[in-house]
Amino acid sequence: MKPSTILLIGCGNMGASLVGGWLDKGIHARSIHIVEPNPSAVVQEYVQKGCILSTTLPDNIYTTDIIILAVKPQTMASALGGLKAFVGPDTMIVSIAAGTTLATLSAAFDSHPLCTRAMPNLPATIGCGITACYAPESVGVVARSTVDDLMSAIGKVVWLESEDQLAAVTALSGSGPAYIFHFIECLENAGVQLGLSAELSRLLALETVAGSSALALGTTVDVSTLRQRVTSPGGTTEAALDVLMPQLGALMRQTLAAAAKRARELAG
Ligand SMILES: NC(=O)c1ccc[n+]([C@@H]2O[C@H](COP(=O)([O-])OP(=O)(O)OC[C@H]3O[C@@H](n4cnc5c(N)ncnc54)[C@H](OP(=O)(O)O)[C@@H]3O)[C@@H](O)[C@H]2O)c1
Repeated sequence: MKPSTILLIGCGNMGASLVGGWLDKGIHARSIHIVEPNPSAVVQEYVQKGCILSTTLPDNIYTTDIIILAVKPQTMASALGGLKAFVGPDTMIVSIAAGTTLATLSAAFDSHPLCTRAMPNLPATIGCGITACYAPESVGVVARSTVDDLMSAIGKVVWLESEDQLAAVTALSGSGPAYIFHFIECLENAGVQLGLSAELSRLLALETVAGSSALALGTTVDVSTLRQRVTSPGGTTEAALDVLMPQLGALMRQTLAAAAKRARELAG
């Protein structure tokens, strides 16, 4: 990746994952300027490696190539204050905050045309995330490919056709890890109810989810067919799915609809 100056605003869970991924990808530590009021031990490690750290926006103003906004949506307004001074005509601005719209970003930077939104998810912290990005047409192919490179440091990257799709993405992959954790909790508890120890039940649940996902990702066979292949007529899986399937589909539709509604409310 070509060296660029990156100004990262907010280096909590997601910001720190990004920096870790960039350093692993070979981005020069000196080109990463972190602004973080409460730097964690991992941020201090990045500083040891050469990243620049400020606890507030620095007084020495310069034009940066890229700004990544990785603060919570509720602190975004204050984080945006003063940032305009670091933006030149070619500066790319990428926000990973849920709920901060491109209209808000663009307004904060005097209708700057190079703003992109990206929605990563929690497995990004181990480099296994998936990030969905949306940029308007004013962000050209080269700029998109730079964003793609930056976000691929924490996992896979996909591009959306409209900003509105970000609400659905937030509902599916953004909040999704919590649904999967709860699903694993439920599997574990149900296993315990059938007489397994909690430890064994948890291991079986975790490996079943991880192994099934790896299997499905590694084949072109669709998941419906995979499900049918493990469901023998009159067998145990069929007995289980007779209970699960009439309820889970509707429940997941309601679950994602609630999250998407909330994402749209947060976007104002
Ligand atoms: N975590 C996820 O799974 C996930 C998934 C998708 C998207 N996101 C989005 O990613 C963003 C960051 O999430 P996160 O989990 O990394 O949050 P986080 O751990 O709270 O990190 C945000 C960091 O920004 C700092 N900060 C606050 N105001 C600042 C300012 N004005 N300038 C610079 N830094 C400032 C915070 O410091 P203080 O703690 O002192 O306030 C905090 O350390 C959020 O907008 C979230 O919607 C997160």
